[in-house]
Amino acid sequence: MTPDPLPFLSFDAQHAPLRGEVLEAMARVYDKSWYVMGGALEAFEQAWATFCGAPHCVGVGNGYDALVIALKVCGVGPGDEILVPAHTYVATWHAAAQTGARLRPVEPDVATMNLDTTQLRQHITPRTKAILPVHLYGQACNMTDVMAFAREHNLVVIEDNAQAHGATWAGRRTASFGHANATSFYPTKNLGALGDGGALTTADATLDGQARQFRNYGFSAKNVCAERGINSRLDELQAAVLKVKLQHLVQWNDARRMLARQYTAQLQAVGDIILPEVHREAEHVYHLFVIRTQRRDALKEALQKKGIETMVHYPVPPHLQRAYEDFGFRKGEFPLAEQIADTALSLPLWPGMTEEMVMRVCDAVRGFY
Ligand SMILES: Cc1ncc(COP(=O)(O)O)c(C=O)c1O
Repeated sequence: MTPDPLPFLSFDAQHAPLRGEVLEAMARVYDKSWYVMGGALEAFEQAWATFCGAPHCVGVGNGYDALVIALKVCGVGPGDEILVPAHTYVATWHAAAQTGARLRPVEPDVATMNLDTTQLRQHITPRTKAILPVHLYGQACNMTDVMAFAREHNLVVIEDNAQAHGATWAGRRTASFGHANATSFYPTKNLGALGDGGALTTADATLDGQARQFRNYGFSAKNVCAERGINSRLDELQAAVLKVKLQHLVQWNDARRMLARQYTAQLQAVGDIILPEVHREAEHVYHLFVIRTQRRDALKEALQKKGIETMVHYPVPPHLQRAYEDFGFRKGEFPLAEQIADTALSLPLWPGMTEEMVMRVCDAVRGFY
């Protein structure tokens, strides 16, 4: 008999109770007949800025564009160098690389799997212009160290907040530290749109104005095109949906943390499993619950046989992707990033997942060992 499938992620428990409210918000946009750059976008921009504790927010088409625009308005370009995590989703690297700047990857701290800030110093050169910390899997990077290092070396800081909506470092929410910060609202994120979406946050009114101009073809006023900008606007429907969903984000993050606590309690000292470690200054929002094991592929297969879907974030580090062949990185050059790529396994976790489901996953993991 084939076991009941236990998916990696399900939207049902989040979306079913909000169905009426979300459809009403969409209907209001429909009836208003104004679909791009209107009141729904403005309202969401304000709400997201307030949530993050950042004075300004600019809604854009997706998280990648938010990074691209952040790098653009911060003046990062050819001849510059950017410090990027060696262990991240490839979108971070793509955004940094399209500036024409040189990428300087920094190894992760294997405990938190975030950028190891103690290694920043060895990668600094006179050309270093920016640092791009990623709050991976839902845990903030060490922003005390990042900001101190950036001040010391006069660097621009751009947070990649795609995976850490609502996470905090030293009591302060992510996307509020850097000069210009990028968030993705891809559907699977902690706050997900019903399609693509993204936002840039900043405390700097000038950067805010520049980002607004750049996302809309470079128009500074009607029929006045000041620069060759791009088209990357968060549309009214997505903004309206995100505004409704944002009201539930804190509660959804709490639910994620509760499930993570249960996983952590159940998987203590099981086989060779290394559980995610949370820095004492960080409040994790568990976009993903990532364990590590030398037997990753075998464990994944055993869970699959029991109907339990898991994922790997990410099996190939950016420096070993074909897309970066021309950068000349070698296998073995970033051994810690490679080690995580070989051993990481993301277990199912979503708001609305039940304790029984977590128990089923944990029983299956114990059974494997
Ligand atoms: C760490 C990270 N950076 C950037 C992105 C890019 O976001 P998007 O897919 O909305 O362009 C993502 C998500 O896909 C991500 O996980």
